Amino acid sequence: AEGKPRTRDLVGRRVVVSAGGTREPLDPVRFLGNRSSGRQGVALARTALARGADVTLVAANLTVRPPAGVRVVPVETTAELADAVRAAAADADVVVMAAAVADFRPAADAAHKIKKQADGSAPPLALVQNPDVLAGLVAEPARTDGGRQVVVGFAAETGDADGDVLHHGRAKARRKGADLLAVNAVGGGQGFGTEGNAVTVLDAAGEVVASVEGSKDAVADGLWDAVVSRLHR
Ligand code: CTP
Ligand code: CA
Repeated sequence: AEGKPRTRDLVGRRVVVSAGGTREPLDPVRFLGNRSSGRQGVALARTALARGADVTLVAANLTVRPPAGVRVVPVETTAELADAVRAAAADADVVVMAAAVADFRPAADAAHKIKKQADGSAPPLALVQNPDVLAGLVAEPARTDGGRQVVVGFAAETGDADGDVLHHGRAKARRKGADLLAVNAVGGGQGFGTEGNAVTVLDAAGEVVASVEGSKDAVADGLWDAVVSRLHR
């Protein structure tokens, strides 16, 4: 039943999904960005809507069209995304951080276009670290009425000399402390810009809660299943 609602189990629930990739300005015409298409976040918004949720999509530079029927808050930078997510999350039951948030931004956003130098030298590029929006939602809940809020993160990982995808995913799940972390392996045709996806859903202790594979809508539905079971605890 890919792409079709399994049940209307999100009726009466307010969910916030961030999607796409943030862009950090260098000067009026240039930015630092990433290759996130926003497809997985848009799939999360579409499937949540189909399951009956009230959906706010915080949309950072999407290359795909957001679904009709969701409230779209367009943002460009990480600072804008952080503000928009926290504002929308004030009365939300669920927040899913599917956006690829820039870890760093240029230390300065030049007022004028950076020009080439006559001597052929290149300007230095100084970066500063952005705030971690997901960690902020865990450390300081954005919901203002004291109700339960399920906070979900996404992590694209590759294996390396220190360990495999699951090893890195578990460490990140514990470090971030989100209720759920959806870990997907990137490289080998999976992840950024592709149609299909496969994720392992971990809890805050790094334990595997679910594994879902298939289209981005199928992955989204699998993640909503895990979220719904948390909402009922
Ligand atoms: N995230 C965030 N704010 C940031 C960076 C990431 O909210 N400044 C969120 C992402 O939206 C995602 C989760 O954190 O839901 C994991 O992102 P990821 O880039 O995998 O984690 P990082 O902590 O940035 O670790 P890494 O050094 O591996 O990039
Ligand atoms: Ca990162």
